[in-house]
Amino acid sequence: MRIFSPCGDADGVAAAAADDFVELARRAIRERGRFTVALSGGTTPRGLYRLLAEERRGEVEWEHVEIFWGDERAVPPDHPESNYGLAARELLDHVPVRSEHVHRIHGEHPDGDAAARAYQTVIARVFRAPETAFPPPFDLVLLGLGADGHTASLFAGSPGLAERRRWVVCHHVAALGVTRFTLTVPVLVRAREIRVMVTGADKAETLRAVLQGRRDPQRLPIQAVRPMLGRMAWLVDDDAAGRLRAAGVTA
Ligand code: 6PG
Repeated sequence: MRIFSPCGDADGVAAAAADDFVELARRAIRERGRFTVALSGGTTPRGLYRLLAEERRGEVEWEHVEIFWGDERAVPPDHPESNYGLAARELLDHVPVRSEHVHRIHGEHPDGDAAARAYQTVIARVFRAPETAFPPPFDLVLLGLGADGHTASLFAGSPGLAERRRWVVCHHVAALGVTRFTLTVPVLVRAREIRVMVTGADKAETLRAVLQGRRDPQRLPIQAVRPMLGRMAWLVDDDAAGRLRAAGVTA
């Protein structure tokens, strides 16, 4: 099921994402004793992280939260480009999440494929799921949207976009000329809950194409993320929603 939530401005997107994070964590911990979440990269989540580290900090049972990443850059954790680094500075260093429950992708590893395979093994271990089976369901996957239609590090033309067997890949992203790590489509579509946070007028045309244009996941990779059993909610600000036809948002 897919939901479209206009949130006013970027602060509204962060607040809505924080509401969902708190509620989904409460529900997962009540039902399964823990909350497994894959954080997104980029800059949009910064507002969410600050809310969770400050105003909303006391509303999450952090000792029962398992933190993963949907993607990572091929850099060390202290690099300015590190998705782990941003989350650590803005959130993890300020909440009592257990260090053994923080599962970062080792982007600095000289053998990217080995690091991707190792991350899949970590996911399998934490979820107690055999790597030969379908990927386990994350309670929440947070995603962003690039102006080119990518999400996580699934880019048009990137080899990992077509991957349907492995859960994590390390691949070259020609559009950026960089190496990236990413969870694959089979993992993302099995999440219980997906929240896509989109802000800024620079995303407006892409969001229109993704939600109201022709389906073409090779060109707009986020269109490949169609939840199999769970819900996918788009948390967008007015600027990003500026090109959408009011009626018929087919989120
Ligand atoms: C990354 C992300 C990527 C991001 C989008 C949006 O590592 O860059 O995971 O998918 O979510 O590019 O980025 P912004 O939030 O910076 O606009």
